[in-house]
Amino acid sequence: MSSDQVVPESVVFCRGRAKTRVVYYRGETLLETARRSNISLSSSCENGDCGTCMVELLKGQVYMRQNNALDETDLEQGSVLACQAVPVSDSIEVEIY
Ligand code: FES
Repeated sequence: MSSDQVVPESVVFCRGRAKTRVVYYRGETLLETARRSNISLSSSCENGDCGTCMVELLKGQVYMRQNNALDETDLEQGSVLACQAVPVSDSIEVEIY
């Protein structure tokens, strides 16, 4: 990712109707952002292999460093791996399962 890549100022984590907006720091994965903000998000391998950290991207775009867990159908449905997903658009909203 280049230094002029667009990144959001914040990320919105949704769990049902509850929404939490947190500051985003360039280069963080969604899992790192959630952790730093004390938002509970399941994880295990943190290497893109298990799918435990899967969240649904409701708004925006992310780049996944690795993906050995999600298939084409998952991706088409908006699923992303929080441990590998780095935001690359100015507005990001995800649903936590
Ligand atoms: S924690 Fe295993 S794929 Fe993210």
